[in-house]
Amino acid sequence: MAELPIRIFGDPVLRERAHEVTDFDDRLRRLAGDMLETMRAAAGAGLAANQVGVLQRLFTWETEDAHGAVVNPTITFESEEVQEGDEGCLSFPGLFYPTTRPLQVHIEARDVFGEELTLEGEGLLARIIAHEIDHLNGILFIEHLARHDRKDAMRRIRRGELEYPPPPEELPDAEGPDAELPNAEGGAVA
Ligand code: NI
Repeated sequence: MAELPIRIFGDPVLRERAHEVTDFDDRLRRLAGDMLETMRAAAGAGLAANQVGVLQRLFTWETEDAHGAVVNPTITFESEEVQEGDEGCLSFPGLFYPTTRPLQVHIEARDVFGEELTLEGEGLLARIIAHEIDHLNGILFIEHLARHDRKDAMRRIRRGELEYPPPPEELPDAEGPDAELPNAEGGAVA
């Protein structure tokens, strides 16, 4: 497996709708494995294929006790009850804002072998699923923010605050492998 470069806000691929996957082949499985590795290396809880420049309806996710890869998801249930909480995105490194999401989101999808799968998310997993399906539709989390938070985000982006810092091994005073990850704390990052 290999880590892939993550596309940052401003890259047009993040605004495009990803296409249905039709070939459940080794290439797809390799991409899913690479995405899982990339997501973990960046301390993310979810990653959509758009974010590594691939317009296929595929995302990976991970919570404390489970992880997976989801292909061609469709939402079958979204609770009216919502959750509030800070959210970030690997394509907006270092930015976190309160983002309202459904408390529960259920999907039907395929796994990387083309087998049917269902995923019933509540809390963090519901947040991840909603965030990643947005990505597959070219929608970014800043579009869900309160107006003043969105303005703040755009101001920070204009100031050039979205750069990933250099890898920890290049920093003289890094405390450990995760010491300088911009996403290691502050809320769910997907
Ligand atoms: Ni994201």
